[in-house]
Amino acid sequence: MVGIHHAYGTTKVLNNISLTVPAGELVCLLGPSGCGKTTLLRIAAGLEQLQAGSVTIDETVIAEGAAQLPPEERRIGFMFQDYALFPHLSVLDNVIFGLFRQDRRTARARAMEMLDQVGMVQHAEKYPHMLSGGQQQRVALARALAPEPRLVLLDEPFSDLDTNMRARIRQQTLTVLKQNNVATLMVTHDPKEAMFMADRIKVLGDQGRILQSGRPADIYYKPTDEYVARLFGPMNMIDGVVEQGGLKSSFGTLALEDPTVVEGAAVRVLIRPEGIILSKGDDDGGAPVEILSAHLLGDSSIVRFKVRSGINSGSEFHLRMPGAFDLTEIGQIWARVDPRHAFQYPQNQ
Ligand SMILES: Nc1ncnc2c1ncn2[C@@H]1O[C@H](COP(=O)(O)OP(=O)(O)OP(=O)(O)O)[C@@H](O)[C@H]1O
Ligand SMILES: [Mg+2]
Repeated sequence: MVGIHHAYGTTKVLNNISLTVPAGELVCLLGPSGCGKTTLLRIAAGLEQLQAGSVTIDETVIAEGAAQLPPEERRIGFMFQDYALFPHLSVLDNVIFGLFRQDRRTARARAMEMLDQVGMVQHAEKYPHMLSGGQQQRVALARALAPEPRLVLLDEPFSDLDTNMRARIRQQTLTVLKQNNVATLMVTHDPKEAMFMADRIKVLGDQGRILQSGRPADIYYKPTDEYVARLFGPMNMIDGVVEQGGLKSSFGTLALEDPTVVEGAAVRVLIRPEGIILSKGDDDGGAPVEILSAHLLGDSSIVRFKVRSGINSGSEFHLRMPGAFDLTEIGQIWARVDPRHAFQYPQNQ
């Protein structure tokens, strides 16, 4: 997709979106509610009239200007949030539905092969209302992939499932998509889901613009702006002025990677909660802290603390650490910052 703009009436929704989904890869659009994710998928599918730009699949232009191929000729498979299985058709007939170009026997064999891939063969004769949400999702995936589409579009495909089911179905969906070596464009507003599923992530801002594109590790470790850094949850923030190439803090001088930042510039450093590490000694150059509270979340704990002395004394921070934190632990505790989890931006960005 190149140079896609879209407006509903006078409201601009998408602003110059270009993206490519290589065969066998999964590209994830990650963005807040209302930023235009579904609109972009509908344009790709041909369900929404293209207003500007072009859509190409395998080097064939399928939409540009007035020339727009109808949805059924685009060889694109869909799966939306509500799965939208046909309630009056059996599981098998739901999957056969998209295979109308094949004779009934070939179509049936192909549908059974796909149901086998998603582990639903034994439910082939059932009707959608007899299935759990996760099972319906698997049938919808089989239906989307059965006609061997050139591109699959997934719109928040796991949002109706509970936590455990979601984790299982995500893994299974990914396995089936990779087995079929299909290009997939998926939409989600859950950054962890995007990290798990995607080969590449495109972060969309609320202006309908792509803010950052990259592999999951780039988005997490090299967020190019404050908005992207904050996608993963609350951050610790230190504002200050650059002195001798860094920002002085109670945690020591936080070195600034960006060589263009000049002495005296006002900068903001954001530190991920998992980037602050506690210790019982100050050997690593940490700040002495007073623990305010600790909450066990299960696999990790959130610990709030105050810095006791130095530049940020009195300021409150929070960190995430594996396992439980024992509040009865006595003695002075120090905190230090892992520079891989600290990011610097100009202030008032
Ligand atoms: N048919 C329409 N007519 C007018 N406005 C629309 C139409 N469809 C969507 N919009 C508006 O366009 C914007 C983008 O909608 P879209 O459904 O693409 O967002 P989204 O990113 O998918 O959001 P969500 O995460 O909530 O699903 C929203 O402000 C929405 O209200
Ligand atoms: Mg949507």
